[in-house]
Amino acid sequence: MSSMIEVKHVEKSFGHLKVINDCSFDIEKGSITGMIGPNGAGKSTIFNIIAGTIPLDSGQILLDGEDVSSLTANQLFNQGLLRTFQIAHEFSQMTALENLMMVPPNQLGENIFNTWLKPKQVMAQELEVRQKAQEVIQYIGLDHVKNELAGNLSGGQKKLLELGRTMMTDAKVVLLDEVAAGVNRTLLKDLTDNILRMNRELGITFLVIEHDMDMIAKLCDPVIVLAQGSVMVEGAIEDIRNNQKVVEAYFGNDAA
Ligand SMILES: Nc1ncnc2c1ncn2[C@@H]1O[C@H](COP(=O)(O)OP(=O)(O)OP(=O)(O)O)[C@@H](O)[C@H]1O
Ligand SMILES: [Mg+2]
Repeated sequence: MSSMIEVKHVEKSFGHLKVINDCSFDIEKGSITGMIGPNGAGKSTIFNIIAGTIPLDSGQILLDGEDVSSLTANQLFNQGLLRTFQIAHEFSQMTALENLMMVPPNQLGENIFNTWLKPKQVMAQELEVRQKAQEVIQYIGLDHVKNELAGNLSGGQKKLLELGRTMMTDAKVVLLDEVAAGVNRTLLKDLTDNILRMNRELGITFLVIEHDMDMIAKLCDPVIVLAQGSVMVEGAIEDIRNNQKVVEAYFGNDAA
């Protein structure tokens, strides 16, 4: 087995507060790795460091064996590492399908020189993008609302659309930070099923931060427990659930 992402001795402070403390872990290629831990453990921070939206103080991040510690989110995106983002305000006035069509990286048409110099390729690519968007919207089960404004979709449908946007790219690894929050049970199942399918059928590696233990149990193996900015334990969910150190980290020593 080889690693998609290697986090090596990463440290990060905000002012005097050390949030990530000698943090090291690997994410295997093809895995759906879960990350849990108490509020304030540093999950979102390490996630943002991996995604290139927050710089690290020291340590190293490798993507597919390559040092990407100093790359920006945009550069990482072009290397196939991406995270879902909430549908931005300006996109809420576009249809679901149009939202998908906005995504592809290296889109020829976005470059003004390409529009001048290669109009045929640009048109061909736009057609291709539309076709792909059609396929993706079907894949994620939102075909029936494809012409609806994204702003009018339900919270769960928006999450599915966010996931769909990652499929418009050649993603190798997708980071999800609490995508299940506030999503109803039915759509949560759709979301979970889609992540599983994308993993199995498209070979996409996932890192999933979630407080919903049922979702973690259904999706993730292994699960990493982060506490006070470093890895406390890592393993299968059954072992994690019965781990005394984990119980204490969540509920304090009283729970012991
Ligand atoms: N930009 C920032 N400036 C200062 N402190 C920050 C910043 N971002 C996060 N922190 C602090 O870093 C610590 C870790 O926050 P982080 O958001 O990574 O935790 P988390 O594990 O994602 O928690 P939750 O489960 O509540 O989402 C917290 O104490 C938080 O207050
Ligand atoms: Mg968080």
